[in-house]
Amino acid sequence: MAEIKINKIFDGTVFKAIREVIDFEGIEAYVIGGFVRDLLLGEPSKDIDVVVRGSGIKVAEKVAARLGNIKVSVFKNFGTAMFKFRDEEVEFVGARKESYQRDSRKPIVEDGTIEDDQNRRDFTINALAISLNKETFGQLIDPFNGEEDLKNGIIRTPLDPDITFSDDPLRMMRAIRFATRFNFRIDDATLEGIKKNKDRISIVSGERIVDELNKMMMAERPSIGFKLLEITGLLKIILPELQDMKGVEEKGGKRHKDNFYHTLAVLDRIVPNTDDLWLRWSAIFHDIAKPITKRYDEKLGWTFHAHNHIGQKMIPRIFKRMKFPMNEKMKFVQKMVYLHMRPIVLSEDIVSDSAVRRLLFDAGDDIDSLMTLCEADITSKNEDKVRRFMKNFRVVRTKLKEIEEKDRVRNFQPPVSGEDIMEAFGIGPCREIGDIKTAIKDAILDGIIENNREQAYELMLKLGKEKGLQADK
Ligand code: CTP
Repeated sequence: MAEIKINKIFDGTVFKAIREVIDFEGIEAYVIGGFVRDLLLGEPSKDIDVVVRGSGIKVAEKVAARLGNIKVSVFKNFGTAMFKFRDEEVEFVGARKESYQRDSRKPIVEDGTIEDDQNRRDFTINALAISLNKETFGQLIDPFNGEEDLKNGIIRTPLDPDITFSDDPLRMMRAIRFATRFNFRIDDATLEGIKKNKDRISIVSGERIVDELNKMMMAERPSIGFKLLEITGLLKIILPELQDMKGVEEKGGKRHKDNFYHTLAVLDRIVPNTDDLWLRWSAIFHDIAKPITKRYDEKLGWTFHAHNHIGQKMIPRIFKRMKFPMNEKMKFVQKMVYLHMRPIVLSEDIVSDSAVRRLLFDAGDDIDSLMTLCEADITSKNEDKVRRFMKNFRVVRTKLKEIEEKDRVRNFQPPVSGEDIMEAFGIGPCREIGDIKTAIKDAILDGIIENNREQAYELMLKLGKEKGLQADK
C-alpha cells in the first residue's frame, strides 16, 4: 500500500469534519472512486464519494450536523445520502456487496467490507480508495493495481469483464468515455468483454447512453470514442446511421472517401473552435445522409445529391430514438446539416454580394457556427487545397461582415408588412399579399433595392400596379 502525500485537500473543512465524526464513532471510512482517481491525476474534483462500514446515511447526518445544520438528501432505497458544502458535493454510502439480475440494472444489495465494495466497482482506476481512519490515514488501498493502470493509461475491469459488464452494461459506455477523456487504452480482455456483452446495452435507458455520449463529445478528441464504439459493435446498435457511413466503394476506377473517418476528422477539427455541444453534434451529423443518397454516374463519378436536405429530414427520427432533446437544439442541428455546403460553394466562386446576403438571411444568428462547421469540413490531404479554402473563407467572412453592416439581413424583418399592403390597396387577405412580400424580400436579397421602408414601399406600389391593384390614396 502506497502512502499518499497528504496534501492540503485532506485538511479542508469537510474532510476534517468526516475524520472527527468517524474517530469519535469508531467507524471505518474511505474516500473512493472518481475523487481518488482525479487526485492521483493531479486534477482534484469537487465530487467526494465516501464509503463507510455500516450506515452511510447516519454518518452523513452526523457530518452535516458538525458542519452546521446542512440539509442532507437521503436516498433510502440506495442507502446513500449526500449534501453540498460550499462548492463541494459529498456523498456517503455504506460498503456493499452487490449482485445483479440479468434483466435489470438494479442490484440486490448486502452490507460488506471495503474490499467487497471495491470488487463491485467498474474499473481498476475507479476502485482506488484512501483511508480516512486514524491509524491508516492517507493510505491508498489499491487491490487491483489501479495506480499502475492510471500511470500506464489503461482501462481495465477489476473482476472478469464479463461479470462487470453484464452486471451493469452502462459500464461499456463508461469504459469508452473514460478512454476518450483521458486518452487511455482499453485493456484487451476488457475490450473483448464489451464486444461480447454489447447487446446488453439494450437494458440501459436512452437518457443514460446520451449522457455518456455527451460527456465523450466534450473531450479533446471525441473521435477516439466513436472509433471504440465502432470496433466494439456498440455503434451499430446505438447509432446505425453513423455505422453505415463506414467503408469505401470503387466503381469505374473511382473511389469515394470513407465518410465515417471523414466525419470523425471534422469532429476533431471543430473541437478547438467550439465548446457548443450541439455544434459538435452537427459535425457528426452533417453528412449523415451520404450513404442513402450515394449514386454512381458514368460521367460524374460518385454523387451524394441532396444529402444535406435528406440529412436534415433524418435528424428528428434519430433525435427521437436516441432521446435527444426535440427542441431548438434539434432545429439548430437540422439547420447546420441543411446549410453545411453553402459557405463552401461560396468560397469556390467569386463571391457575389447577393449570394452572401442570401446566406446571411438563411443562417441568421447561426452564421458564425455555420462558418466554424464549414472550416472544419475541409479535411483534404492536399495542403495547398486546404490553404486555398481557408483563404477564401476569410474573404467570405469579411464579406459577411461588410454586407451585414450595410444591409442588416441577418435577422430579416420585412420592411413592408402584410397590413401595409392591404391598407395601401384597400384589399383583404389574399394570395397577392404573399407574392408581393416575397418579391420585395428577393429584391432586397438580390441587391435590387436597399433594405429600407422607402424603397420597399415604392416597389410594393409598382408590383401592386402590375397585378392590377389600385393604390388607395
Ligand atoms: N461506478 C461504478 N459503476 C457505474 C457507475 C459508477 O462502479 N456504472 C463507481 C465507480 O467507482 C465510480 C464511482 O462509482 O468511480 C462514482 O461514479 P460517478 O460519480 O458516476 O463517476 P466518476 O467515476 O466519479 O467520474 P465522473 O464524475 O468523471 O463521471
